[in-house]
Amino acid sequence: MSLDYNFVELDKAVHDRAVFDCGEVELNTFIKTQAARHMEVGISRTMVLPASVTPNGGKYSICAFYTIAPSSILRETLPAAIAKKLPHYPVPVFLLAQMAVHTECQGQGLGKVTLIKALEYLWEINAYMRAVAVIVDCLNTRAEQFYAKYGFEVLCHHNGRTRMFISMKTVAQLFS
Ligand SMILES: CC(C)(COP(=O)(O)OP(=O)(O)OC[C@H]1O[C@@H](n2cnc3c(N)ncnc32)[C@H](O)[C@@H]1OP(=O)(O)O)[C@@H](O)C(=O)NCCC(=O)NCCS
Repeated sequence: MSLDYNFVELDKAVHDRAVFDCGEVELNTFIKTQAARHMEVGISRTMVLPASVTPNGGKYSICAFYTIAPSSILRETLPAAIAKKLPHYPVPVFLLAQMAVHTECQGQGLGKVTLIKALEYLWEINAYMRAVAVIVDCLNTRAEQFYAKYGFEVLCHHNGRTRMFISMKTVAQLFS
């Protein structure tokens, strides 16, 4: 697949969800059957990186995608240094709900690019609607290792997943 790095909102009329394969059934199913519906009902937003050429005039293949949603977290689950300045009711965070790279594109730095694009997008949103951190619920230990590489720290266990976070202050250092 040939690439540019312009992520756009998922459009099922334009993007070929059916052939996306990142090697994880849960994420493949999400992009194929749930991502567009979740956008329609206002649960989350999915941004995709389309291939720059269409095969025989068809839909664009999806090289990578990320899905974001607003969420909240109890201050007690955050590290003391962050928690001590926060109120005793749930505080806003951004949830990086899904992120995946097509198997054909893995191992070429696109996972890193996708994560940076997601954080950059959330940083832009933060200018209008504040959050204290970005959280992610890791599918497996390999995902944990991937996010740890980019500064995410383990927060707690949530619904059988390891929840990791990166503070918005750290994200700010990347983009401001
Ligand atoms: C995890 C995933 C997004 C990584 O994408 P990728 O394009 O292969 O990653 P990159 O090529 O950008 O790799 C960036 C760095 O992370 C490392 N890395 C990649 N996958 C990793 C993994 N699973 N575990 C640990 N480190 C990983 C690479 O070695 C590389 O490090 P380097 O820069 O020091 O060489 C991709 O493998 C994927 O889509 N997996 C299936 C879906 C998934 O698990 N998503 C996360 C759900 S929470």
